[in-house]
Amino acid sequence: MTPTLPRRAALGLIGGTAALPFLPVGEAESDTPARVDLRVQPARYRIVDRETTGLVSTRPAGPPPVLRLRRGKRFHARVVNRLDEYTTMHWHGLRIPNAMDGVPYLTQFPIAPGEAFDYRFAPPDAGTYWYHPHCMTMDQMALGLTGVMIVEEADDPGFDAEIVLNLRDFRLREDGGWLKLWTARNAARTGTPGTAMTANWRRDPVYDAPAGGLVRLRLAATDTTRIYRIFVPGMEGRIIACDGHPLRVPVADPTGAAPHVLAPGQRVDLALRMPAGEGRELAVMTATAGGPRRLAKIRARGADRGRDLRELAPLPANPVPEPDLASARRGEFVFGWSPEGGKPDNGFCGSLGLTFWSINRKPWPGDAVRGTGPLATLRVGESAVLRLRNESPNLHPIHLHGLVFRPIASNKRKIASNWTDTAILQRDETLDIALVADNPGDWAFHCHVIEHQKTGLAGFLRVVEA
Ligand code: C2O
Ligand code: CU
Ligand code: CU
Repeated sequence: MTPTLPRRAALGLIGGTAALPFLPVGEAESDTPARVDLRVQPARYRIVDRETTGLVSTRPAGPPPVLRLRRGKRFHARVVNRLDEYTTMHWHGLRIPNAMDGVPYLTQFPIAPGEAFDYRFAPPDAGTYWYHPHCMTMDQMALGLTGVMIVEEADDPGFDAEIVLNLRDFRLREDGGWLKLWTARNAARTGTPGTAMTANWRRDPVYDAPAGGLVRLRLAATDTTRIYRIFVPGMEGRIIACDGHPLRVPVADPTGAAPHVLAPGQRVDLALRMPAGEGRELAVMTATAGGPRRLAKIRARGADRGRDLRELAPLPANPVPEPDLASARRGEFVFGWSPEGGKPDNGFCGSLGLTFWSINRKPWPGDAVRGTGPLATLRVGESAVLRLRNESPNLHPIHLHGLVFRPIASNKRKIASNWTDTAILQRDETLDIALVADNPGDWAFHCHVIEHQKTGLAGFLRVVEA
């Protein structure tokens, strides 16, 4: 095979993307200094026809900004609590020291009103991640506090533009007022669906990208409940990363017939080639029970750049250790209904006051974790194969903090064994996941349907120094 010189290199445009007016496309404030102050505060914004107050963000009007970090480079976020209730911040998917993980009682004391907490870490993996509180989650997340976090690769893969879509719903009336954030009936089933489907807090926004150019589209499902079924009709391109990590094995192109399922907590990166004609559009769609819905549009602008997807450098793999399946420790976790009882104990971090779900038939008693031990204990460096068994008729996106794993077998389907931090567990599915316990600490392990998490479907794994 003769190596072909990327066209931009041939044209002498190496490193030229930063000067393009199209980078980054998305929301303002996406350039993050090494230190960022995140002031968690009440916010207002027009999401539906009229302005909504009572939102929670890190700025007074608008969504939490996209944070940009560099792989392996130090980052410092001072989270200041300007609410009149407790909070913490969690960096979903990042393999960072346990003390920086933001889980109340497990890794830190909740941040009191008026107080601040300094989070400092250097992300080891590039990719698309996100941040959200891990305290009062059913309120603060539902009211807006979910943001996208990007860890850039050391070398630019060669895109002309990047578009970030923070996908989530709000439970709003058309006059901007709030509906009840959740109902007990829904919490015991699939979770309470939103009424306003948004991307970057906007309904069906349009973003521009260079005609004939290569776009990196990063999608993050940060809703508390909604399972997206993403497709881009007529797209020329492919999925290049799931849940932050470049693909180990390919996954199918997201077409209308076979959408890409994106459950709460999950992310997907696509490489797309824009249509060549000025004004032509790509639609980012989700299939719903009521038919297809458009989440956002990307419109081609300017003269045809004439790019080719083959010009993109493949994303470098993240340094995730490969589990040794032969010697792996085995464990089993059963996800299902909760047995009777279960007394919520949420300390300062809020409770729905109900218990519906459990892991290994033990409902998580609440964030305060008084008298709650780990679901399993692993030694640093040890490989493990964990069997996740779903006894319920509901889908659960199961999320593990601090470690990265990959599904290796399912009793129901052919799985693409890619690295992830949040795996979909289908109804009645038994899924084996493999990992290396390379990061010491107490790592939260829970369903990312927040109503499930808050009514029992949570716990933690302990990784101890050998
Ligand atoms: Cu995205 Cu335990 O969190
Ligand atoms: Cu997480
Ligand atoms: Cu669940």
